[in-house]
Amino acid sequence: MSTTSMMSALSTPRHVAAPFSIGSILVDPPVILAPMADVTNGAFRRVCKRIGKPGLIVTEQISTMALHYQSARTWKMFDWTDAERPLSVQLFGADPAVMAEAARIVADRGADIVDINMGCWVPKVCRQGAGAALLKDAETAVRVVDAIVRAVSVPVTVKMRVGWNNDSLTSVPLAIEFEKLGAQAFTLHARTAKQGFEGSADWRWISEIKEAVGVPIIGNGDVRTPEDAARMLRETGCDGVMIGRAAIGNPWILAETAHYLKTGDHLPPPSLAERQEAAMEHLRDLAAHLGEEHAVRHLRGQLPHYVKGVYGASKAREEIVRAVSIAEVERILQGVGQV
Ligand SMILES: Cc1cc2nc3c(=O)[nH]c(=O)nc-3n(C[C@H](O)[C@H](O)[C@H](O)COP(=O)(O)O)c2cc1C
Repeated sequence: MSTTSMMSALSTPRHVAAPFSIGSILVDPPVILAPMADVTNGAFRRVCKRIGKPGLIVTEQISTMALHYQSARTWKMFDWTDAERPLSVQLFGADPAVMAEAARIVADRGADIVDINMGCWVPKVCRQGAGAALLKDAETAVRVVDAIVRAVSVPVTVKMRVGWNNDSLTSVPLAIEFEKLGAQAFTLHARTAKQGFEGSADWRWISEIKEAVGVPIIGNGDVRTPEDAARMLRETGCDGVMIGRAAIGNPWILAETAHYLKTGDHLPPPSLAERQEAAMEHLRDLAAHLGEEHAVRHLRGQLPHYVKGVYGASKAREEIVRAVSIAEVERILQGVGQV
């Protein structure tokens, strides 16, 4: 071990990286892939699982209303496989009965955990009273959690923001109520809904919620490096760390983080060939599910992240925007790194 890594290992007590359980579901390592709409579909989850081996993966949010009305697009989101377990399926909505019905459906289809979205701040979701809007409607939020806990036998968790805005910081009192109703873990993205992605996450709120409830807490917001994850665990006492944006095009961050938390050492970075191969695996898997052209169009913004920082990556990003076939994408990505 190098002097630097020995120092960081010393400042990163190993107990902070212990596996933990959500009900009967073991989360090992305590590194979790965040739900991201239009990103964490089955193809990306499987790439993350193979390469990053997170202790838990959360699906992109599924609209319970759309499920209720049998939307074909929503049924396409039921694309999980056993390879991704343990898998948490995230639901959004505001009608307790419709949410409970959806929870039963996803649990029947094999979800290991049902997660309720109380963090999404986008107007399309909040206008329905769903996502982070539930943080300012305690009565409905309580009814939603109660209905879902009663509907399924798998653990129910809630992903929240700190509150709606600085004048309405409701996550801690709500978590206390949800725990009484049977919620078995909480994820806190330590920003208010009004913040969107502005400013920085205030991890002190993760400590607050951890102190207020007895069930596991997953901390989230601005973890970009393994060192960030170690610092979040150490500073807040949370049980697990959730990583979102930093994993886009970089599923290695999950394994690097788990390794660092356990050993204080860094894994060697992936080679360019591994990065190109992972991008193609991601694309081919999505194409098998959505069709070739649809998958290429969908991933135009995401695939360039796999080769970020490599010579020729910006040119590849510009070219991929016009690609419509797997062969074109492959040719573009293979061109990266060629001087
Ligand atoms: C493209 C994108 C889509 C997201 N979609 C969801 C979602 O469907 N459900 C949810 O709870 N959070 C969603 N989030 C929020 C993330 O789960 C996470 O809380 C946030 O990105 C902060 O974590 P990070 O700093 O590690 O990215 C999304 C974030 C991004 C960037």
